[in-house]
Amino acid sequence: MCGIMGYIGSGNAVPLILDGLARLEYRGYDSAGIAILQGNEIQVRKKEGRLSGLIEAIGQPPAADLGIGHTRWATHGIPSDRNAHPHQSCDERIALVHNGILENYMALKKELCEEGHRFKSETDTEVIVHLIEKYYQDDLEAAVREALTHMQGSYAIAVISRDEPQKLIAAKKDSPLIIGLGEGENYVASDIPAILHKTDQVYILQDEELAVLTADRVAITDFSSAPVEREIFKVTWDPVSAEKGGYEHFMLKEIHEQPRVLTETLRGMIGEDGSVDMSGSGAEHLLREVKKIYIVACGTAYHAGLIGRYAIEKLARIPVEADIASEFRYRDVLWQPQTLMIVISQSGETADTLAALREAHRHGVPVLAVTNVVGSSVAREADAVIYTHAGPEIAVASTKAYISQILVMYLLALQLARPRPEAGDGIRRLSAELLKLPAQVEAVLKQEAQVKALAQKYQDVQSTFFLGRGLDFAVAMEGALKLKEISYVHAEAYAAGELKHGPLALIDHGVPVLALITQSHLVDKSISNIKEVKARGAVVIAICPGNLAGACAECDEQILLPDIDDFLSPLAAVVPLQLFAYYMAVFRQADVDKPKNLAKSVTVE
Ligand code: AGP
Repeated sequence: MCGIMGYIGSGNAVPLILDGLARLEYRGYDSAGIAILQGNEIQVRKKEGRLSGLIEAIGQPPAADLGIGHTRWATHGIPSDRNAHPHQSCDERIALVHNGILENYMALKKELCEEGHRFKSETDTEVIVHLIEKYYQDDLEAAVREALTHMQGSYAIAVISRDEPQKLIAAKKDSPLIIGLGEGENYVASDIPAILHKTDQVYILQDEELAVLTADRVAITDFSSAPVEREIFKVTWDPVSAEKGGYEHFMLKEIHEQPRVLTETLRGMIGEDGSVDMSGSGAEHLLREVKKIYIVACGTAYHAGLIGRYAIEKLARIPVEADIASEFRYRDVLWQPQTLMIVISQSGETADTLAALREAHRHGVPVLAVTNVVGSSVAREADAVIYTHAGPEIAVASTKAYISQILVMYLLALQLARPRPEAGDGIRRLSAELLKLPAQVEAVLKQEAQVKALAQKYQDVQSTFFLGRGLDFAVAMEGALKLKEISYVHAEAYAAGELKHGPLALIDHGVPVLALITQSHLVDKSISNIKEVKARGAVVIAICPGNLAGACAECDEQILLPDIDDFLSPLAAVVPLQLFAYYMAVFRQADVDKPKNLAKSVTVE
């Protein structure tokens, strides 16, 4: 995730900013840059790669009392010196750093280019600085305010101008930004760890607020210029927990980031008619006249692919095979004309997934990548990419990347269904339902205490089963993987109807069975399976929406989901399973974020 650090005051801005950026390194980034005011010039240095490369390029830090710095996690444009922030106006009078995604950047860029602005990067961010330049008439604050009225999307920005050397302007909407208060100096940062070693007194900016920082003062107003009285927040976290946003582990932080990740991934994907429209994604040309789809991935990403298979076949009526990449690459596939391969990979570097992609290319089959990392191998080699916008995932166990992957699967299914006139109403209805997801996942997260209590109760079990039918089976597979991966408890996922063909022999007194029951049309069948395991002494924990609670009454425990469309239920149902795995690992004193024997990115076969 991008990091912002800005400084104004009597100290030396350069080492202070670089130090702040270094404290944000844990968030992940691919390039870094800094802009400082020296005399009446803004000096900018930017470097792809690690912060150490930028530090080396700067050499002996020059003296400056105003500056902004940034670590970039690419979203628009590959990681490169050119795309790194800060970006500058044409006349180099203004410099800006930005976190977030500017949704309407293409329309704004076109307009600005027609007006004569010259762009140097492929980023959405550069549009903002040109927009500020357009409105700049010797008043940076007024120009920023005007620019904000034209911006759609999420942003946290910090801006300086060589003509107003005593001022740093910050503003935010849907992306975090804080202000650190010092003695004769003030800071702006995207996150508390950047400034915690300097001050524990902060203002946390709220959405649609703008702050003007000088060395001695911070004035906060809302976007309509009304003054805001903000209480100082005294940070009591130690630096290590500050990195995790106050959570004990990155995994828990990432689980809680999921509502925001869904919002980010949905950005720009719903057209003006209220239905899914991926025409801005650059992938649309691959989605026309497709007759067969292979979805190929590993681990959690493969589980997202299984949901993609259900969703695409149901909505678009195109045959889909979902395959494990390490199997797919050695299988003698019967390639047919008008086939598309979709690869899913959080890291974009998984060796088997990359090999499957190359196999498709060898047969002239185009590949659409769904990945979280801009500039990754998969993103570079695919014919088109849809990014998941989950931000860097640090815990080895994938959570927020998975939820964004399954959201992209639904978006793709809805896009592929567009040519079917009979799908029209369904597309509009489901598109509207997608917009409710962030709030619904937020509601599921409120069940955390209950899930934690269940994990505490069952922490000593040796073995668990996860059952489901249809979409629920795909979620069960993910729940079981999460549990075994981080808590080292044996966990088996089974299609509920398959149990009596063998694994039922393993069900014994006290074995927890986590039963996913979200599909109304399959509820009776699922209840029969529950009776089978209960009759053999299993303890059944049902994960079901409130409207099926009555049907699931004979389960020993229930985790209730909000009433969500059956078809979209995986997006809510997986959350309690992630929390269950997390707390089981915590109670069993496992290393949650770095489970034994596993790596975040598997770049070898
Ligand atoms: C999930 O929690 C895992 N850590 C793992 O299964 C992962 O999803 C898999 O290795 C695929 O990684 P990728 O998405 O980066 O390709």
